[in-house]
Amino acid sequence: MTFAEFMEAQTRRVDAYLTRVLPPRDTPPTHLHEAIHYTVFAGGKRVRPIMTLIACGALGGDTEACLAGAAAIEMIHVSSLIHDDLPCMDDSDTRRGQPSCHRKFGESTAVLAGDWLLVYPFEIVARAAEEGAFTPDVAARVCATIARGVCTSGIVAGQVLDLEAESRDVTAAELRRIHELKTAALMEACARVGAAIAGAPAQLSDTAARSARALGLCFQVVDDILDVVGDAAVLGKPTGADSENAKSTYVSLHGLDLARDMAAQLAAEARDALDALPDSEWLLRGRQLIDYVVGRSS
Ligand code: IPE
Ligand code: IPE
Ligand code: MG
Ligand code: MG
Ligand code: MG
Repeated sequence: MTFAEFMEAQTRRVDAYLTRVLPPRDTPPTHLHEAIHYTVFAGGKRVRPIMTLIACGALGGDTEACLAGAAAIEMIHVSSLIHDDLPCMDDSDTRRGQPSCHRKFGESTAVLAGDWLLVYPFEIVARAAEEGAFTPDVAARVCATIARGVCTSGIVAGQVLDLEAESRDVTAAELRRIHELKTAALMEACARVGAAIAGAPAQLSDTAARSARALGLCFQVVDDILDVVGDAAVLGKPTGADSENAKSTYVSLHGLDLARDMAAQLAAEARDALDALPDSEWLLRGRQLIDYVVGRSS
C-alpha cells in the first residue's frame, strides 16, 4: 500500500467514526449542525487524527479503540480553524477550498460551531470509555492531554500571542514559542493521546511526543512557507494572508531559504526521535508522515 493509499484508508476510518458520532445535519438546530458538517467534512488532510492512530499503533495499541481520540483531536482542530478565520482573528474568507464557516453561515453561528467542536470531543471520549474502548482512567488522561493542547500550554495561548504579535517585531525565540503553542502543542497531544490509549509507558509516550512536537513546529514552518509560495487553489485557503495581517512568520523573520532549512532540520529531529521506538509497520507510516508534512504543497 502506498503512503497516499494509507492516508486515504485512515481518512475513511476517521470520517466514518466522525459520521457516526456527529448529530445528523438535518437535526435541530439545523443551522448549527449544517455549519459543523460543512467544515468537518470539507476535505481536510486529517494529519492530526492519523498521527494519533499512528502513535497508538506504533506503541502497540489497538487503533480501532483509538478512533475516538483521533476524531476528538480532529474536532478540536476544526474548531481552531473556524475561530482562526473569524474577522476578529485572521479574517480569512476561504478554508478547505470553500467559503470559510463564518462567510457561509454568519459570524455568530461560526463562533458557536467552534465552541461546539471544542467541547463535544470530551463527550465523545467519555462515551467511548463507557462503551469499553478504553478504561475511565485512560479517558481521563486523554481528556487532560487534549485540554493541555488547547489551553494555556496550547492553541488558545498561541493564538493570543500570535494576534498580539501582529504589526510588531518579534524575536526568533518568541516566534518559535508562538508556533509551538498554536500548532505543535496539539500535535504533541496527538502522540500522547495515541500513547495513552495504547497503554504505553511514560518513556515511550515522551519519545513519541518529542517527535510530534518537532513535526508540529515543522508543520507550521511549512504553513508559513506555503502562505508565500503556495497555490491558494491547492491549499484551499488564501495565500499572502500573513503579510496582509502583518504577521511575523518563519519566512518574514528568517527568509525563505533559511525557513526551508529549518523545516528540514525539524523533520530530521522528528525522524531521529523515532529511532528509539521499536520497528513496526505503523512506525514506518510515522516516518512517511514526516516526509509528507515537510514536502507537502497543500
Ligand atoms: C491548518 O492546518 C492550520 C495550521 C495549524 C497551520 P492543516 O493544514 O492541517 O488544515 P487541514 O486540516 O488540512 O484543513
Ligand atoms: C493557525 O495558524 C493555527 C491554528 C491554531 C488554527 P494559521 O493562522 O497560520 O493557520 P492558517 O494558515 O490560517 O491555516
Ligand atoms: Mg492564525
Ligand atoms: Mg489563519
Ligand atoms: Mg498560516
